[in-house]
Amino acid sequence: MDSPIKILLVDDDVEDHIITRTTLKKIPYQKYLLECVSDFEEGVTKLKSVDFDVCLVDYQLGKQTGLEFIERIKKIKPWITCILLTGQGFREIDEMAMKAGASDYLIKGNVTPDQLERSIRYSLRQSGNLKEISTLNQELEARVNKRTEELDLAIKELEKAKDEISHALEKEKELNELKSRFVTMASHEFRTPLSTILSSAQLIDRYNQDNDKEKVIRHTQRIRSSVQNMTDILNDFLSLSKMEEGAILLSPRQIEFRIFVEKILEEVRVLVKEGQKIVHLHSGSTEQVLLDPQFLKNIIINLLSNAIKYSYPLTQIKFSTHLTEKELQIKVEDRGIGIPIEDLPHLFTRFFRAKNVINIQGTGLGLNIVKKHIDLMGGTIDFKSELNKGSVFSVKIPLATENL
Ligand SMILES: Nc1ncnc2c1ncn2[C@@H]1O[C@H](COP(=O)(O)OP(=O)(O)OP(=O)(O)O)[C@@H](O)[C@H]1O
Ligand SMILES: [Mg+2]
Repeated sequence: MDSPIKILLVDDDVEDHIITRTTLKKIPYQKYLLECVSDFEEGVTKLKSVDFDVCLVDYQLGKQTGLEFIERIKKIKPWITCILLTGQGFREIDEMAMKAGASDYLIKGNVTPDQLERSIRYSLRQSGNLKEISTLNQELEARVNKRTEELDLAIKELEKAKDEISHALEKEKELNELKSRFVTMASHEFRTPLSTILSSAQLIDRYNQDNDKEKVIRHTQRIRSSVQNMTDILNDFLSLSKMEEGAILLSPRQIEFRIFVEKILEEVRVLVKEGQKIVHLHSGSTEQVLLDPQFLKNIIINLLSNAIKYSYPLTQIKFSTHLTEKELQIKVEDRGIGIPIEDLPHLFTRFFRAKNVINIQGTGLGLNIVKKHIDLMGGTIDFKSELNKGSVFSVKIPLATENL
């Protein structure tokens, strides 16, 4: 004999409890364990707490119906097999029972043991199949979810790779543009120093024949400064492309500030025009500072050489430095040609040169390099300029800390 089938009967007519029990007893070869309740809510509570195989539900349950009962139960335990018991056999009720989730319906009063056994058996088989399908569905769903997660991850990785590639491409494009702009700029900017070198070399030949040593020296000096000019341009360009590639890293070192500035001034004073004067004013501490010396030197030299280049002979250039515990402040002030107002927004763009400097040599790289250095050092740069009056560039650089 198969293991007993646990049945719950929900029926408000106690007489039906007895009839059902009697009918079940008449079924040979199968044992049934029957529990009976008369009330809707009692039935729900029972089904929630005990595992039944089958639930027989009366169509009339006081104010509520067996259909509502089945609907409610299916929401809590969808796998429970429900059979509806009705007084009359209407097709309408049959359809409603099916909709509510009942596996079968039986007409009360004339249910034979055979019919009941058959209905229970078929309903159980049907529910078993449904349960299997639902398990398979759940497994399938879990697999789909897992695959979706894997796909999401793969998509994210692809997107990341795409971003990286387009970033690299962008960088590559920028570098290419930089290189081609450089070729244009270099072919223009190198022409003057090269022709100076050529003419000086020719003149040296001539002065050598005349044995005019003084003039020879003057021209070898011109050659040297032209070569220096070209080297400066090349260095600027190289440091810019290195920065573009991210290959330049900060390396702060202790700097003896006073000596450091004096050395720079020595270098820069060679560039001044006739009667031009650089006046250096320092305030605050004069102690050592922890900063990248190469970056700092490039910044100061670029600002001072611009002030010299873009102002007139016999003018004064004010170079102020102020050191606090936290930062270094630099100010370069000239009374030169100034910058046209419409050019101001483009000032730190590489290769940018204002309209009023067409006849003055330059590559338009200096301020771009200055800005990049200051950004890397976490500082700021501001400026004020008025056409034909002069310009002021103000820089603030936070001092590095030991653990940088
Ligand atoms: N002190 C200044 N006075 C007037 N114009 C300036 C001053 N500093 C910069 N400029 C303007 O900004 C432009 C860009 O300056 P930047 O130093 O980048 O390039 P450059 O001086 O032309 O060339 P280089 O790369 O040789 O320095 C200059 O061409 C000039 O028009
Ligand atoms: Mg410059």
